[in-house]
Amino acid sequence: MHRTSHRPAVGPRLRLAAQARARCNKLGRDRREAERRHTGSATLSPKEQIGPTGRPLPTFPAPKELRSHGPARIIAMCNQKGGVGKTTSTINLGAALAEYGRKVLLVDFDPQGALSVGLGIRAHELDTTIYNLLVSRGTDIHDVIQHTATPDLDVLPANIDLSAAEVQLVGEVAREMVLARVLRPVADEYDVILIDCQPSLGLLTVNALTASHGVIIPLECEFFAMRGVALLVETIDKVTDRLNPRLEIDGILATMYDGRTLHSRDVVRSVVDHFGDKVFHTTISRTVKFPDATLAAEPITTYASHHGAAEAYRQLARELIARGDAA
Ligand SMILES: Nc1ncnc2c1ncn2[C@@H]1O[C@H](COP(=O)(O)OP(=O)(O)OP(=O)(O)O)[C@@H](O)[C@H]1O
Ligand SMILES: [Mg+2]
Repeated sequence: MHRTSHRPAVGPRLRLAAQARARCNKLGRDRREAERRHTGSATLSPKEQIGPTGRPLPTFPAPKELRSHGPARIIAMCNQKGGVGKTTSTINLGAALAEYGRKVLLVDFDPQGALSVGLGIRAHELDTTIYNLLVSRGTDIHDVIQHTATPDLDVLPANIDLSAAEVQLVGEVAREMVLARVLRPVADEYDVILIDCQPSLGLLTVNALTASHGVIIPLECEFFAMRGVALLVETIDKVTDRLNPRLEIDGILATMYDGRTLHSRDVVRSVVDHFGDKVFHTTISRTVKFPDATLAAEPITTYASHHGAAEAYRQLARELIARGDAA
């Protein structure tokens, strides 16, 4: 008697619980579907853990093998703020893409020559660099390109000579298109060309943006990260409007992230609030392995192949490919 009096009350409770479970499952399915749409061929990791950007972190699949190479997608690594990880990201994203079988050309477009030196090229001793290609037509780009110790990773080197180009190009016809002209003969030989810009929004950077299909903006996870970004986006918009309609922002890359600090996490969340899905799920942590690898003149992917920092750039390469922003 006692038991039967309870049965009618348990039925509706169970039904309510089942309905709530179904609603949760549906919400989960909707969220997975929305995420799948945002991440192209990426799938959410089984646990759907929240990534450092505060969004569910997808798993990016290993890229398909390429049977033929080119034409290259050209990407400028750009931020007029100094020391945010442009050169480090150019070298290591390039090396990771090369590991995945992509043919990669890195363009050193900074008179500091840090990219060339960071890959073991004694740029200050070279007679011909990108400078010669920019200011005279007699040089063959193939004679200037240097191979690195990493297979399929080549460099168009620069040294301090490049600082003179900015002044010399001012009087040129179509002075913003000179780099695009320089790169044209090798565009079909590479899958990706990454341009390491100098920390300025001057004529060299405008040349890099005019030659590119996409821009990646590395942002250091610190308090003033967003300072100057509005001006950078304005410059990108002007180049898109007046010189290069195909140009698009491929992504914002948070660098020097320290997940132990609330500060780093807050900066990344505010960058996501501002740029939304443009922010890469992949973030690059702060680690002394990067300066160490620069001293060793090697990409992190070979210097500390198993370190999380190397894996982060591999993940960035996979994410870029999964988004369709590289072959
Ligand atoms: N994730 C990181 N963790 C720790 N140090 C880093 C990291 N990324 C870069 N660095 C170091 O910070 C310094 C600046 O990095 P990098 O040269 O890549 O910046 P940049 O934006 O190219 O600078 P510049 O504007 O001068 O060209 C370098 O010493 C580099 O080794
Ligand atoms: Mg640099």
